[in-house]
Amino acid sequence: CGIVGIAGNRPVAERLVSALTRLEYRGYDSAGIATQASGTIMRCRAQGKLENLAIKLGRTPLEGTTGIGHTRWATHGAPTEDNAHPHGTHHVVVVHNGIIENYLQLRADLAADGYRAETETDTEVVALLATREMDNGATPRQAVQSTLAKLRGSYALLFLFKNNDRELIAARRGSPLTLGYGENEMFIGSDALALAPFTRTITYFEDGDWAVITPEGAEIFNDLGLPVERPSRELGAYADLADKFPYPHFMAKEIHEQPETIARAINQFLDMTTGALRPLPSLDFDFTTLPRITAAACGSAYYAGATAKYWFENYAALPFDIDIASEFRYRHPRLTEGGLALMISQSGETADSLAALRHCAANGQHIASVVNVEESTMARESATIFPLLCGAEIGVASTKAFTSQLAVLLCLALKAAQARGTLEPEMLHKRIAALMLLPAALSEALKAEPQLKQVARRLAYFHDVLYLGRGPFYPLALEGALKLKEISYIHAEGYAAGELKHGPIALVEKGTPVIVLAPTDELFDKTLSNLKEVTARGAHVILITDPPGAEIAGGDAAEIIVMPQVDPAIAPIVSAIPLQLLAYHTAVERKLDVDRPRNLAKSVTVE
Ligand code: G6P
Repeated sequence: CGIVGIAGNRPVAERLVSALTRLEYRGYDSAGIATQASGTIMRCRAQGKLENLAIKLGRTPLEGTTGIGHTRWATHGAPTEDNAHPHGTHHVVVVHNGIIENYLQLRADLAADGYRAETETDTEVVALLATREMDNGATPRQAVQSTLAKLRGSYALLFLFKNNDRELIAARRGSPLTLGYGENEMFIGSDALALAPFTRTITYFEDGDWAVITPEGAEIFNDLGLPVERPSRELGAYADLADKFPYPHFMAKEIHEQPETIARAINQFLDMTTGALRPLPSLDFDFTTLPRITAAACGSAYYAGATAKYWFENYAALPFDIDIASEFRYRHPRLTEGGLALMISQSGETADSLAALRHCAANGQHIASVVNVEESTMARESATIFPLLCGAEIGVASTKAFTSQLAVLLCLALKAAQARGTLEPEMLHKRIAALMLLPAALSEALKAEPQLKQVARRLAYFHDVLYLGRGPFYPLALEGALKLKEISYIHAEGYAAGELKHGPIALVEKGTPVIVLAPTDELFDKTLSNLKEVTARGAHVILITDPPGAEIAGGDAAEIIVMPQVDPAIAPIVSAIPLQLLAYHTAVERKLDVDRPRNLAKSVTVE
């Protein structure tokens, strides 16, 4: 979820909605705002995307110069208007990002005192707790302080009180919160991007901080209730919300940007004219002596890490573990002393990835992050960051961030190989030359779009699709299946091609679409055998390969998508393009909301 608040001297309703549009990447199941004017709180909420809230506000505008807003990714309670934030009582309204883990217990305790919840949300207990305190004579500050003491879980909270003109109270534990300084106005929001149109001077709250915010400034306290100073800083040149013109969707634009974005990612490591590897920024670890890399990430970022495992182990002889971030810390991983924790995240705000980072930091690992948003919490908590430099990614399904993650990770694996002397100079040179050709290879790959659009027309009518690959194409098969299911809602599974016969082949019947990723590398023949196994059982095989592979496979595949022939090191990155285009055109064919698929969020800020 995303939250925002303004304590000001001018009407705030429209500006709250404009800030929420910049937070929609955190969820868009429902949205709402509340404002305060002359001792009255007014609230407007709507189910569904933010447009619905804007339409409602157009009909019934809200006055008030102080207010709070929320865009929701539902955790507790369906995404209905009743469950939409802000939640409130006769004293206070609240917006919340995070999860109150002990809410059932708190709810029972409140009900026993006559404070009954009306919604299914965990957030409502926060408003009820503060209300009970105030009914017993507490001031807003006292009420917030004793409420916070009772909460378990994670939160970024904003409170707006009925009779406390021009004042907001904010609190954070686990979820991020950023304060912005305007002229006679103060802003607060889940991230700096939301505040960028209003101010460039910001302060990041630390965990456990809470603050009383008025138009004149903010008093910040730590979790012991002691006043604290938190440094303010100027935001760098922040990209304004990207424009998708001339494409119909951000996802299409982001897919087509990849030749440029990948060049930017590589250029950090490699002089693209001379081919010389550039020195890395100063690191607090040394690749030569590094015993192990431990990586953790979610979604597409996890698949980027799973692909990188092949590169680090193969080229740099460096043990590389990768976990799904939500599993990582709960399996009590044995971390190697002096090891590097490498976190991969587009947003840098994903709650599980951040928790994995903190787990590694608390256990003495060196911390580096591959992130896109350089102002993000993960970036700020890392000793070293390797930025993606791919610009704002707006489409919920990751495309350009995924290929930039791959490119950055491949460059790092080659830097590690160079430092450790694990690749013959000639082989290293070959890989570097391949990297220099990557932007052109992606442009070439994009030319398959008309053919992929045709394939997608047919795919759109199926219920199940299998993706197969070996070696680094196995995580790519997983990514291809993820892309298809997240935006087209077609069930898809990625499998290691060799694992096919241990179960999934039972699903294959006449016409089942099976997408096989197999450029001509050392595993090509083996994957070709697996392809024949499914063809023999009636599958409709769509083979993604290179020209020699197309020639060999010939009549064994129903359709062949031919990618340029490239060095095996970069082939997985090239093959991401047809997977993205296929998912995109299938979703378009099914007339779905490609950029904002149902139930998803760009960045999931709860566990
Ligand atoms: C969400 C998005 C995915 C993304 C994942 C990890 O699930 O929908 O596209 O890969 O989060 O996000 P991150 O920002 O950490 O890369």
